[in-house]
Amino acid sequence: MSGSAHGPASRTRDAGTAAAPGPWAASDPYAAALRAGRGPLFLRRTDGWLLPLEVERWCERADAVDREVLDRCEGAVLDVGCGPGRLVAELSARGRTVLGIDVSEAAVARTVRLGGRSLRRSVFDPLPGEGRWGTVLLMDGNVGIGGDPRALLARVAALLTPGGLLIAETAEADVDERAQVQVVDVTAARSAGGCFPWARLGTPALLRHAGGAGWRTAAQWSSGARRFVALRSPRSARSSAETPNSAAVISSQRARKPSADSPATDR
Ligand SMILES: C[S@@+](CC[C@H](N)C(=O)[O-])C[C@H]1O[C@@H](n2cnc3c(N)ncnc32)[C@H](O)[C@@H]1O
Repeated sequence: MSGSAHGPASRTRDAGTAAAPGPWAASDPYAAALRAGRGPLFLRRTDGWLLPLEVERWCERADAVDREVLDRCEGAVLDVGCGPGRLVAELSARGRTVLGIDVSEAAVARTVRLGGRSLRRSVFDPLPGEGRWGTVLLMDGNVGIGGDPRALLARVAALLTPGGLLIAETAEADVDERAQVQVVDVTAARSAGGCFPWARLGTPALLRHAGGAGWRTAAQWSSGARRFVALRSPRSARSSAETPNSAAVISSQRARKPSADSPATDR
């Protein structure tokens, strides 16, 4: 499937996917943890350093900190690297137009089970509604996706409507790091196989990369140990007019009435 419509009958997963099999997609420990709803799971750098993945929190309902982030969303929301879907589910429950994308089949399946729309797709694949999303979310460290923050920011800018909002969660520490990592369950001594590039950015680093690419800082805040930045897209209305919108139709696994301004529906 690439841009074809799915009916409600295909709720459990997106059988045809544009997402190339990648490290997360092929990660047995990640899929196993999502199915169990718990870790322990880590990203392990080649030097052995471990970054804990908060699988339990991701598998729970959106908490107060998440909900504050979601209160700031504008227009239709694309949750990039949606994981098991707590944010997609919460926004759906609020009646918002929202799509989660993730390369992990287990993540997409769980999101759909929660009643959310989700596609198994990489953020770098062709996506529905390119250039029309009101908000893109990069939560839980997802600014690290691809290991090249500038490339990810450029991709997100192409997904957003002119002046659209990127809300990104940054690292608590003031880091600007690119590394090769693996998904590992150290207790079961299982790893996902190959290494893949990942980045870790604190707020100053993200603001530096984004500022250099013309993004404007809309807000920055913290809640406990979690840090967030909201950035306005550098794309002007003119550049938007020059960019053809994707005519792709979301392969939604959830039947719902299309909203007129939704990039998640065919127009
Ligand atoms: C650090 S976890 C974040 C989990 C998630 N935000 C949540 O709410 O549970 C990173 C997520 O991004 C997904 N991911 C990794 N690379 C991706 C890509 N290129 N495009 C879309 N999703 C990706 C992984 O499968 C994983 O679910």
